[in-house]
Amino acid sequence: MSRKVLVAYGTTNGSTAQIAEAVADVLRKKGASVDTAPAGSVDDLAPYDAVIVGGALYTGRWHKDARRFVRRHRRALSKLPVWLFSSGPLDPSASERDIPPVPGVRRITALLDAQEHVTFGGCLQEGASGFVARMILWNGKGGDFRDFPAIERWATRVATEIRRAEDVIGGEEPA
Ligand SMILES: Cc1cc2nc3c(=O)[nH]c(=O)nc-3n(C[C@H](O)[C@H](O)[C@H](O)COP(=O)(O)O)c2cc1C
Repeated sequence: MSRKVLVAYGTTNGSTAQIAEAVADVLRKKGASVDTAPAGSVDDLAPYDAVIVGGALYTGRWHKDARRFVRRHRRALSKLPVWLFSSGPLDPSASERDIPPVPGVRRITALLDAQEHVTFGGCLQEGASGFVARMILWNGKGGDFRDFPAIERWATRVATEIRRAEDVIGGEEPA
């Protein structure tokens, strides 16, 4: 796979960035050239053949950096294959069943005609910023619910789909 892929992410406490890195590692092992970047730092999508956007969930919304990324790059994204993920639930639910996207992400999935959206379990640990985060931790409701085997399975599937798209393009007769 020679395609260039961007994995952009919106994070406050860093756990979504680690999911993005895990996804990127799988794609690299499958032969893709992959950049990972905070969603707020990406200026230009011209180098990329496919984009994955991930955002942490905060009070029922995708992380603002992920939302702004989509708004800023809407035109370019609508011409690229795009996959989306959310990270949030602080319980095992995301490992047990498909969690549908929150309404804002559902709209973005439709807007971009994205290939797929998936929700992964989240992570909240000591040192997280914000009063509410500290209250959740104080109440013993934190923890790491990221399911890295599931994340790697999803990334492997995305890699296969990117490669399949490349085969189709590569198999076309020259004009
Ligand atoms: C204030 C606050 C609000 C949250 N709201 C949601 C939510 O609405 N839905 C959800 O699934 N998870 C929610 N979470 C859990 C976070 O999405 C989870 O901790 C996530 O892994 C954080 O990602 P980050 O480390 O990349 O910032 C919330 C956490 C905090 C601290």
